[in-house]
Amino acid sequence: MTRPMCILVTGGAGYIGSHTVLQLLLNGYSTVVVDNLDNSSEVAISRVRELAGDRGRNLSFHKMDIRDKPALEQLFASTKFDAVIHFAGLKAVGESVQKPLMYYNNNIVGTITLLEVMAAYGCKKLVFSSSATVYGWPKELPCTEEFPLSAANPYGRTKLMIEEMCRDVYASDPEWKFVLLRYFNPVGAHPSGRIGEDPHGIPNNLMPFIQHVAVGRQPALKVFGTDYSTKDGTGVRDYIHVVDLADGHTAALAKLSDPKIGCEVYNLGTGKGTSVLEMVSAFEKASGKKIPLIKTARRPGDAEIVYASTTKAERELNWKAKYGIEEMCRDQWNWASRNPYGYQTEAKKLGA
Ligand code: NAD
Ligand code: WQD
Repeated sequence: MTRPMCILVTGGAGYIGSHTVLQLLLNGYSTVVVDNLDNSSEVAISRVRELAGDRGRNLSFHKMDIRDKPALEQLFASTKFDAVIHFAGLKAVGESVQKPLMYYNNNIVGTITLLEVMAAYGCKKLVFSSSATVYGWPKELPCTEEFPLSAANPYGRTKLMIEEMCRDVYASDPEWKFVLLRYFNPVGAHPSGRIGEDPHGIPNNLMPFIQHVAVGRQPALKVFGTDYSTKDGTGVRDYIHVVDLADGHTAALAKLSDPKIGCEVYNLGTGKGTSVLEMVSAFEKASGKKIPLIKTARRPGDAEIVYASTTKAERELNWKAKYGIEEMCRDQWNWASRNPYGYQTEAKKLGA
């Protein structure tokens, strides 16, 4: 019997990571997660194990910071990885403006350390979590992978720099294979309601904020800007169900086995734009909850409209998002109503 492919997943206890690890296990991969639990909980790992049934035994977890080079080396010395999916990073735009060095240190130094250890152990296949943030305020739509890149804040610059770093590493050594995935706006949760997004502190992003309002943790949603040139004046984004996004990673792993691939970039989005007010109304419908709104000024740095061209991912990864905003809101509410305090309640019970 051939051994299952073994994938190292950095940041695998986080929102997108936990959903991806589950899809990998269900697709027959073996996974090793490293996460420092800076923005996540080990409860997510145990729930992924539970959802994977028998295949849950193919998941192991190490509480580790990817900047801890000796620890990472020890892991690579003991396990042969076929590829790495690299989610680990800090992602709050506002915080990155306040604490740029923390972001550069975590995201850039973390990635350099990871790539150095991978190179030393001859594991040269990486899927990296980039972001639509690298399109800045796009001049045209939909955003294609060839668009000029820019960044409006330190977080975005870390994504841009890591993309460039991967392109340089590939140029220096064509044995490397990179798939850089530019996620649009991931939302929703696993339909079981067992795993979902549980940011520490006050959420920065739209859907987790709406979710906190719906469960009574915040009084109202501030709508950032009602004077954009859009259908209803509010910002438009390409929201993508996190399970679709997770499936995009199995497609990316398959692509890494293509002998012709070098360093390739793909958008993961739906190609559809939805406004803030449309999202609120879809969530209200799915949850039966009224979301009180406070209309406020634009948030600095926000683009007006961003949505993806999905052609390249469809053609080359054979992947296409299946879910629409109704399913995203249904699953977000299912998760929120079952876990109004995310993983905290169970983590406290376990004394974690
Ligand atoms: P998340 O915060 O839920 O997950 C990131 C995980 O990485 C967390 O579990 C955190 O504890 C861990 N981590 C951070 N620094 C680490 C370090 N130095 N060592 C080990 N673990 C570390 O975020 P997410 O939404 O799941 O995002 C995953 C990746 O996708 C991130 O790189 C993020 O920048 C990128 N991304 C996210 C979005 C989004 O809107 N959620 C959009 C585009 C790109
Ligand atoms: C969506 C829309 C807001 C919160 C960010 C990062 C990006 C990527 C995804 C990581 C916008 C509006 C939001 C609120 C609001 N992350 N909004 N009230 O800004 O598209 O992208 O997350 O890579 O890099 O920049 O997502 O969810 O914050 O905002 O009105 O309380 O909702 O103005 O129009 P964004 P978001």
